[in-house]
Formats: sequence, C-alpha cells, structure tokens
Amino acid sequence: MEQKDIVREIHHAFKFYHALGVESVPIEVLEQLNSIVGKEKSSADIPIPDLPDSCPAPGDETLKEKQLFELRATIGDCHRCGLAAKRTHLVFGAGNPCAKVMFIGEGPGRDEDLQGQPFVGAAGELLTKIIMAMGLKRREVYIANVVKCRPPGNRDPEPDEVETCIEFLKKQIEIIAPGVIIALGRVAAQSIFETDEKIGSLRGKFRQFHGIPVMPTYHPAYLLRYPRAKETVWKDVQQVMAMLGVKEK
Ligand code: URA
Repeated sequence: MEQKDIVREIHHAFKFYHALGVESVPIEVLEQLNSIVGKEKSSADIPIPDLPDSCPAPGDETLKEKQLFELRATIGDCHRCGLAAKRTHLVFGAGNPCAKVMFIGEGPGRDEDLQGQPFVGAAGELLTKIIMAMGLKRREVYIANVVKCRPPGNRDPEPDEVETCIEFLKKQIEIIAPGVIIALGRVAAQSIFETDEKIGSLRGKFRQFHGIPVMPTYHPAYLLRYPRAKETVWKDVQQVMAMLGVKEK
C-alpha cells in the first residue's frame, strides 16, 4: 500500500469514528488529515458509493413497492403473538425497495412504537450516522426488524415471537433482494442464521442467507452503552463497503 493510500485509510477511519462520537479521536489530527487528503481530492467530505442498480429493469421499483404493500396488507392488524396487546403501531420497515444495503434490527423500541417507523430513537440516530459514514443516505437503504411490534420494556423478543414474525422479514428480504444485509445485534444475527452463537463470534464474518451476504455486527444500542465498540463496527462496515466496491470519488 502506498503512503498516500495509508493516509487516506486513516483519514476515512477517523472521520467515521468522529462522526459516531468516538471521543478519543483528536480533532486536530482529523483536521490535519482533512487538509492533506482534501488537497488530493476535490470531492465532498463523505465518499459517494458507486452502487449498481438493484432495480435494473423498468418497472422493478413499482413492482417491489406493490409487493411490499401487499405484504403489509397480509400482516394486517396482526394479533399472531402476544406483542400485539401492548403495541401502539406495528413497525413494518422503511426505505428504498431497490436498496442495495438492508439493515435488520431486533424490534421496535419506544420511539419506533410511537411513530411506526424503524430506528427513529437514539439508536436510530446512531444508525443514521453509520449509514452516512458509509456514504449512503437513509432513503437509499432499507431498514426492517425481526419482530414488528415492540417487546414491552424493550426486552428481547421471545423465541415464539421471533418464530411467528420472521416469515415477514424473510419475505421482505426476498422482495427487496438487497446486495448485502447488515444484521444489527445478537437477536437479528441469531434469528437470521438460526443459531445461538454469540454476537461476539458471529460479527465481522460474512455468511449467506439465501445467497445474500450478511454481515453481523453490534447493535447501535450496544454502541450507545459501549462506545469503544464503534471501532469494531467500523471494521465490519468497511468489509461491506469493500464488498460493494464502494470507492472514494
Ligand atoms: N432497535 C431495533 O432493533 N430496531 C428499531 O427499530 C429500533 C431500535
């Protein structure tokens, strides 16, 4: 690797850590790197990925929107498990039906339950920063959860609740057919892979789900409690970016 590439790598990593609020990143070092790398590149601060179109044929987007709409209608006013009793809103999922990158969380929290949208609370803010640090916008990705209704008190969903609900997530994945999935946290990773392996050993390694590469990593809520783990998440996310061929322009 050439020296300028090493500098660029360090710059990129520092920007990510800084964007996510890792306080150990010295701002003066980041500013120095900004000025060095900025001289070499004329583009915007955040890299813009060159993602291939995941809806290549005309009408693909409309078709996927329709299929998602029909899936939502199938779920209906769901009372298939006990989570229905205490929910305010069912949180189906949100984002681009042609998304190349799909994020999967565990289940709605309090804010999500109130608003009916995934990842809109504090963990969601952090997820948005991760998405932006990848050079993407929230509206370019798709975000869904393993269970669609809030487990009371933010407890983990019970195995029977996951079992009841996961068929809808699988259908969402099938419709969107993303290029890559990022599984956020233990519940998402274990549910997708049907394993009880710990997230510490699952994370950082691609596995396939129906031919789609899945990268498990720590949940943003965990990062709020253990900010040091942000650096680990960045390493996992970088693997996804490399796999997508995301380049700094
Ligand atoms: N945590 C999740 O796993 N999903 C959300 O939608 C919000 C918080």
